[in-house]
Amino acid sequence: MTQVNQSQLRPDGAGLNQATGSGPLKATSGQLEYAAEVVSCHQLNAGTYWLQIYCPAVALSCQPGQFVNLSCSQFLRRPFGVAQVDRAAGIIAIGIQLKGQGSADLAASRPGRALSVLGPLGQGFTLPQPGTEQLSSGSGQPPLLLAAGGGSGLFPLLFALHEARLQGCRTAAVLGFRSRDRVVLADSFRAVCSDGLTLATDDGSLGVRGTVATALAQLELLPGEPEGQNVARAGQAVTVIACGPKPMLAAAASWSRSRQYPCQVSLEERMACGFGLCRTCACQITREGRTEMLRVCYEGPVFNAEEVFPE
Ligand SMILES: Cc1cc2nc3c(=O)[nH]c(=O)nc-3n(C[C@H](O)[C@H](O)[C@H](O)COP(=O)(O)OP(=O)(O)OC[C@H]3O[C@@H](n4cnc5c(N)ncnc54)[C@H](O)[C@@H]3O)c2cc1C
Ligand code: FES
Repeated sequence: MTQVNQSQLRPDGAGLNQATGSGPLKATSGQLEYAAEVVSCHQLNAGTYWLQIYCPAVALSCQPGQFVNLSCSQFLRRPFGVAQVDRAAGIIAIGIQLKGQGSADLAASRPGRALSVLGPLGQGFTLPQPGTEQLSSGSGQPPLLLAAGGGSGLFPLLFALHEARLQGCRTAAVLGFRSRDRVVLADSFRAVCSDGLTLATDDGSLGVRGTVATALAQLELLPGEPEGQNVARAGQAVTVIACGPKPMLAAAASWSRSRQYPCQVSLEERMACGFGLCRTCACQITREGRTEMLRVCYEGPVFNAEEVFPE
């Protein structure tokens, strides 16, 4: 593995090896670039795609909430949260919502396309630990991971819920969409939610009418509903994770705070380098009483909710 120093790196990641290179190079930040190959790309709905990439090293080491920065037709790479990992097959999957030329180029990928993958990047979610939290809550119940997501933020939550299930947690999710025809991956989420999936649509065409915030507010009012569950049992340890538009994150943070549930939010700031050099992604974070500009790509993208939305 060859070391490159920071002066050799450009915001687009050039200076690391490119997709045609022979193997991983280790940046001084400790993060890696890999030559990878598209396995498949298929459309989920009008503006959403599912891209599978053969990249065994990232598949092996990636943790829920981390992201990859992908080469594309544009000068700068584009960041995407890892949505699914098949470690045995060496494949990662990402969900792509079409925004501009970079996402459109990646969504048009054909099997065999060479990609340069920088990752896994950033700090992911801290998932509940069944053994210890079960004992400390005194409820005898495994801890519950509740995921709240909307927009392109829902994809990394799938990976987090899957891992939490494997570790023995109970899991539930609240996902928001504009309308019924925008709903994607509902069956995939249902498969990793032991305690129910609640869908919300802005126009009420499916599930709860309104936003993720509306659905969270109603969550405990919907026991037994097909798309809703009374998720939190008495004394059960609950951890909330959220990813999506900022107002949705603020709503999830406020809902969690009012119930004294710890909440982590994943930010999707615009990025350039993706590994801590350029500070394009710096965001105001309040940590240990001090407010400072921290890099979403490096110190984040996952932060404790109170660090992003202090009282
Ligand atoms: C850590 C992280 C994880 C992400 N995970 C996913 C994911 O799993 N799936 C997914 O579809 N997208 C994800 N995104 C967003 C994705 O990176 C952008 O949509 C993409 O880079 C847009 O590139 P583009 O060339 O298509 O559009 P551009 O031409 O760059 O932008 C098109 C429009 O989208 C807006 N835009 C671009 N990036 C962002 C952003 N980060 N936040 C808000 N608005 C933006 C621009 O302002 C512009 O109006 C993630 C972003 C981050 C930072
Ligand atoms: S994108 Fe360069 S420091 Fe975060």
